[in-house]
Amino acid sequence: MLELLEHIIEVTSADLDVQEVSQRVAGLVTAATQSDVCFVHLVDEELRRVVLAGATPPFDEQVGSVQLALGEGIAGWVAKNAEPAVVPDKWKDSRYRYIPELRGEDFTSMVSVPMLVRGRVVGVLNVHSRAARTYGDSDLVLLAQVANLMARAIENARLYRRLAEREEMLERFATRTVEAQELERRRLAGEIHDGISQRLVSLWYHLLAAEDGVGAPDAGLVRRELATAKELATSALAEARAAITGLRPFVLDDLGLGPGLESLGRTLTRVEVEVEVEVEPVELAPHVEAALYRIAQEALQNVVKHAGASSVLVRLGAVDGGVRLVVSDDGQGFDADTVAGAEERHSYGLVGMRERAELIGASIAVVSRPGTGTTVEVVVPVPDAAA
Ligand SMILES: Nc1ncnc2c1ncn2[C@@H]1O[C@H](COP(=O)(O)OP(=O)(O)O)[C@@H](O)[C@H]1O
Ligand SMILES: [Mg+2]
Repeated sequence: MLELLEHIIEVTSADLDVQEVSQRVAGLVTAATQSDVCFVHLVDEELRRVVLAGATPPFDEQVGSVQLALGEGIAGWVAKNAEPAVVPDKWKDSRYRYIPELRGEDFTSMVSVPMLVRGRVVGVLNVHSRAARTYGDSDLVLLAQVANLMARAIENARLYRRLAEREEMLERFATRTVEAQELERRRLAGEIHDGISQRLVSLWYHLLAAEDGVGAPDAGLVRRELATAKELATSALAEARAAITGLRPFVLDDLGLGPGLESLGRTLTRVEVEVEVEVEPVELAPHVEAALYRIAQEALQNVVKHAGASSVLVRLGAVDGGVRLVVSDDGQGFDADTVAGAEERHSYGLVGMRERAELIGASIAVVSRPGTGTTVEVVVPVPDAAA
């Protein structure tokens, strides 16, 4: 028994994935309890089912495909009730469910124990024997110990996987952020170069011309050059403002996201679309607000440009576990699959929306079909948004 536990500890603490641990434990347990087969079922909390994760051959081929609802069959019953079941003759046990793939007809007796971590059932360990027998207390104690060791190993493996995933996500996020900054910097450089600098250069020439004209016979010349220079100064200033506004929508600092969206809606009412904005107050980080605002802005621009809609609804509010933004129009819609790639069209709208969503860890769906309207839905996970 000690030797078995040592083996089990070795297996469960090795750097193996959950399925491999299950597989090896199944083999060890079968031998130790003088049984014929062992099944390891793991609880899938989301699906509320137990799923076969490991088994002695040949049943290892059924891993992943055999599933029971919580409460269904003996494994399901043990998972639901968090207590063991000793079954001398399963054909006489009303909890038993026949699963053809596991060849229940070949086995008679069984015992099933929950795998517990801090009172929570993470799985179920089942051993079966062909001949009729009654599994005794010593089998139960052994199985319970093995099951709990496994439970802990599985819990650790899951935590580890979750951490690794998180780390990967953060890394992607960091890369994206740097890329986005780079993009923004290039855009700004472009705007300064093409717009502002150009205007300042011509401003300079017109000022030179005005200077040359001082004291010249054509008295109107200086006035005309100065007038042009003034105009250029004004437009350079406007360009500079526009370039800066592109960085972060000022309304957000002044008003916050909800009112920012309302103001966005109002500025669209000039066109023939009726805009309705419904916002609930939500708490979001500034960079998340900015991203949502930009997405709404692009979605609304698309409605104006492409949808031919009579109305559009912008809605912001808390949902389970997050905040949702929806921009939904009743226009002609489009076929998202056949819209050409962004590069060919030199347009960045839908792609940019997706990138912004990804950058803040949000999911985004653009649902549209020709003839129906278009709905853009973004959900940002926020741990306690509903609170
Ligand atoms: N709300 C909408 N209604 C109808 N068509 C849309 C809508 N939004 C996007 N589209 C279609 O998807 C295309 C891609 O949109 P986008 O990437 O924003 O590029 P752009 O707006 O520059 O054309 C649009 O050209 C249009 O055909
Ligand atoms: Mg667009």
